[in-house]
Order: sequence, then C-alpha cells, then structure tokens
Amino acid sequence: APYSLKFALVPSTEQRAETEREAILADPGFGKHFTDHMVTIDWTIEAGWHDARVTAYGPLQLDPASSVLHYGQEIFEGLKAYRHADGSIWTFRPEKNAERMQRSARRLALPELSVADFVESIKQMVAVDKAWIPSAPETSLYLRPFMIANESFLGVRAAHRVGYYVIASPAGAYFADGVAPVKIWLSTEYSRAGRGGTGAAKCGGNYAASLLPQMEAYENGCAQVLFLDGETGSHIDELGGMNVFFVRGTDTLVTPRLTGSILEGVTRDSIMQLARDRGMTVEEREVTLEEWRLGVESGEISEVFACGTAAVVTPISQLKGKGVSIGDPDAPAGDITMALRQELTDIQYGRVPDRHGWLT
Ligand code: COI
Repeated sequence: APYSLKFALVPSTEQRAETEREAILADPGFGKHFTDHMVTIDWTIEAGWHDARVTAYGPLQLDPASSVLHYGQEIFEGLKAYRHADGSIWTFRPEKNAERMQRSARRLALPELSVADFVESIKQMVAVDKAWIPSAPETSLYLRPFMIANESFLGVRAAHRVGYYVIASPAGAYFADGVAPVKIWLSTEYSRAGRGGTGAAKCGGNYAASLLPQMEAYENGCAQVLFLDGETGSHIDELGGMNVFFVRGTDTLVTPRLTGSILEGVTRDSIMQLARDRGMTVEEREVTLEEWRLGVESGEISEVFACGTAAVVTPISQLKGKGVSIGDPDAPAGDITMALRQELTDIQYGRVPDRHGWLT
C-alpha cells in the first residue's frame, strides 16, 4: 500500500555548519549527537494520524500532566541507514521495524501507524539529513522512531492524544571497545519480563526495568546484563538490549525461542537466515543456564554472541554472576560469530549483492 500521509517540510534555520558536522561524524560514538531535523506525526482519537511534518530538531513541549510522564505509555524502534561506497543510502529491513512497532503499539494500547507511513517517515528523515550519515567503516545513521501518549489526563486509560516522532543520530560502535568480546552479567534477582507482560514489545518500561541490574553489570566489569525467564528462572531470555546466540559444534546455531517475553529482533531474524544460508542448523528453543555451562565445559558450545541493531554482532567471552562463571574472559571472538557479522554488514554496506531484498 502507498503511504497515506503528506509530509510538510519546514527546514531548520539553525542547521549546523559543515565543520561542526564533520567533527561529529569523525567520532560519533553512540546516541550522543542528533541531526538537524526530526519527524513529527500527531494522532487523536477523533482525527487519527495527521499533520505529518519534518521540522527543526528541538525540545518537545509536554504538559506536565501528559500521560507518558505518569504511566509510561511509550514505544520505540531502532534501525540504521548505511552509506554505500557509491554514496547511495540504504536502510535495512525497515518494514520489519514498522511491523514490530505495530505489535508494540497494540500491546501498549497505542494507535498503529501503517507500515507505508512508517517507512516514508524514515525516508523523509534520511533525505533531509543525509549529510549526517557518516562514511567511515562500521558507521551509520541510527534512526529512533518513537511514540508517546500525550494527553493531559491522569485517569489510567489509553491516551486519546499521541505523538509519533523520528530522530536520528550518527553512530559508531555501541560498545566502547568496538567489536571486542564483552563480558556479561547474570541477573539472578531481577527479570525484565514475565508471562503476559510486555517483554516482546519495544517499550521504554522494559529498558527502565533493566537499568538497575545493568548498573550491577557495570560494577562487575560487564557490558550487558543477561536475564533469565521470569517464570522459572532456569532458561535464558535475552540481554538488557540485545538477543543472544550460541554456536554448538561448528554447524548449529541456537537461540532462545520467542516466548512472548523476548524481543523479536530484526538482527536476530537476519542472523538466523544467514546461518541457514551457510548450511547451518538453526534451533529456536529453550536454552537453560545449565546447557550453557555444560556446553562450554565440554567444548560443545564453541561461541556465544549478542546481536541487535545497535550492537550488530558482538562476541561474548564470559558470563559472570553471583557464584557463576562460564567461559574465559580472555577468549577471542569466534570464527562463526565473526563470519556471520561480516556477512550481515557486507549486505548492509552494499559490499555484496542484497540477495534477500533487505535494503530499502
Ligand atoms: C537497538 O539495538 O536498536 C536497541 O534498541 C537496543 C539499545 C541497546 C540501543
């Protein structure tokens, strides 16, 4: 279906100078700098989606009674735009993000934006700020669509007024050490999701719930926190902001199955496809902590890695926790991990043909 909204463009009158922009693009970090523009689309229960516009990046004006500030009715997405060697700009599977945002919207009682309007909002954003897409290896423009309840009303019900926005941020590696293997911290006290909860939705609340255990991870020298399932506490769900994969032997890739409490990652899905393409067996199933421990001890689990839009594919060297240590903190990145990472980024950066039609 074609997109239905017409986007008005009101260019920023305070676009930063080229020298300032180039300085930022030379060392973007992650999520620290934002481009000159943003997309806004309003929704009301009476009028539906309307007033799509591209304007100067700037503060939102929210009434202090705005419902998002009180009850956390919020969802977001994350995807990247990549500059290819010929200068052309491509996003990776944006319709997957659009569909996931629709599922998140349903769970958080927010209105759904059509896939076509979502993708168009991304194209608008990329078009207006294309000068902000870096070209160095492993860099990209991180796009952050989000939706908030914005009704001035303290009754607890789905808001009748909502805003959808897209902001963009030039991005290098998510972790300070780039693609170097990371240690992760096992949270035994906290879970991020429970049965019937919001674990599969990309809502801010899930990430808020991960922050305290994430602090514990940092205190213990770990880059991310690992959550077990909220019900039995015996099998692995995911990391604070990433999915997790295990390589068994040389030809089997295992990842926790989607139970409703795990985020359905676009990178997760893509990695499974690339693994199948190279003839690997892919298993989506329950993975217990015990399987991980025994697998590493016997050598059968040869590699573990995290993946996500922000993290791309990041090797995991060790799992640490209270009375727990699995793996070797000095272990180098695994061959299969790095091969899958290379295949994924080769497609994203246009170094190989886009055989799955993943680029827009
Ligand atoms: C992403 O990978 O895009 C996320 O939303 C996760 C977050 C850690 C940045």
